[in-house]
Amino acid sequence: MNKDNNIKEPEKRAFLKGAGLSIAALLVGGLSMERYAVPKGRSVPVMDNFPLAILEDPNGNPITTSEVIEFAGASKTTKSSPILVFNYPLQDEPTFLIALRGIKITTPNTSPSSGFAPVPPGTDAPMDGIIYDSATNTSILAVSGICQHLGCVPPFLDYHPGQSVPFESQLIGYKLDGVGVQKWPDYGLIYCKCHGSQYNPVWGGRNLYNNGPAASPANHSLPQIMLATDSNDHIYAYGINSSNAVIRTHLKFPDGETHGAGVKNEDLTGGTAIRQSTRTTPTSLNKYSVTSLESVSPSSLDVNQSNGSIILYKTTVVSNENKDGLNWKGTF
Ligand code: FES
Repeated sequence: MNKDNNIKEPEKRAFLKGAGLSIAALLVGGLSMERYAVPKGRSVPVMDNFPLAILEDPNGNPITTSEVIEFAGASKTTKSSPILVFNYPLQDEPTFLIALRGIKITTPNTSPSSGFAPVPPGTDAPMDGIIYDSATNTSILAVSGICQHLGCVPPFLDYHPGQSVPFESQLIGYKLDGVGVQKWPDYGLIYCKCHGSQYNPVWGGRNLYNNGPAASPANHSLPQIMLATDSNDHIYAYGINSSNAVIRTHLKFPDGETHGAGVKNEDLTGGTAIRQSTRTTPTSLNKYSVTSLESVSPSSLDVNQSNGSIILYKTTVVSNENKDGLNWKGTF
């Protein structure tokens, strides 16, 4: 059997539309509307709560941090790295899963003037929601794979690791060892080929705005998806960093308009929920926070609850590259 066929229909549909703008996701999305999918309002861009989702491979096996580090760990000298993507918080919303070897992504030393300011990492504790593996000195982070300019998705929005400067980035002035030009960041960029938006994964996906050689047209950073682990090293997504919790470009078009004053609401209604899992919800999770690594009850996280119990969803991690023993090949 073709291994690609192992990817079940919901994931397949989500990734086949990868070449389109994310607005297509709204159009193809089903009618289901989960309560967690609705932000409280434009002025309070935080959802009521989120699904607790376990990350699986296309065969339905939970993936581990060590697998992600082995498969996709990028370093300063990396020249290529598979793009790992999973859907969260809705089925049609791609999210990058990025492992960076040799660096602990930490809370910024200085407070950003807004939640979106480009502040480089500090020296202290890991940033909230970013898994840090001290044995390999690796950070694993997840950021939205929907460009916050006009919504391009993978493969147009793509992570280019250290020492792999894409042609498009060279055109705007990035070079590996820039002399009089902009130096390519050590761990590379998430770069959007549609109009040149630039996001630095070491900054937790923050937009570079005008700090790169050319302006980054996106006005917002990539929302950061919060990650946790259980005692088996399995990875869970449990929310979006509240500093930037709206995945923009998922706009509601009451009269079919695509821009202008008529676009009133940033709203995720119409998206399709990720699938509910039959797995047992873990009794505790390792939550990576700015102050410490805590073992917490899932019920203490801001995740979707029904009748007092945590609902566990599942989301499939896929890649644009296959590798021996790790069949995560996707279809985008
Ligand atoms: S959609 Fe990404 S730069 Fe415009």
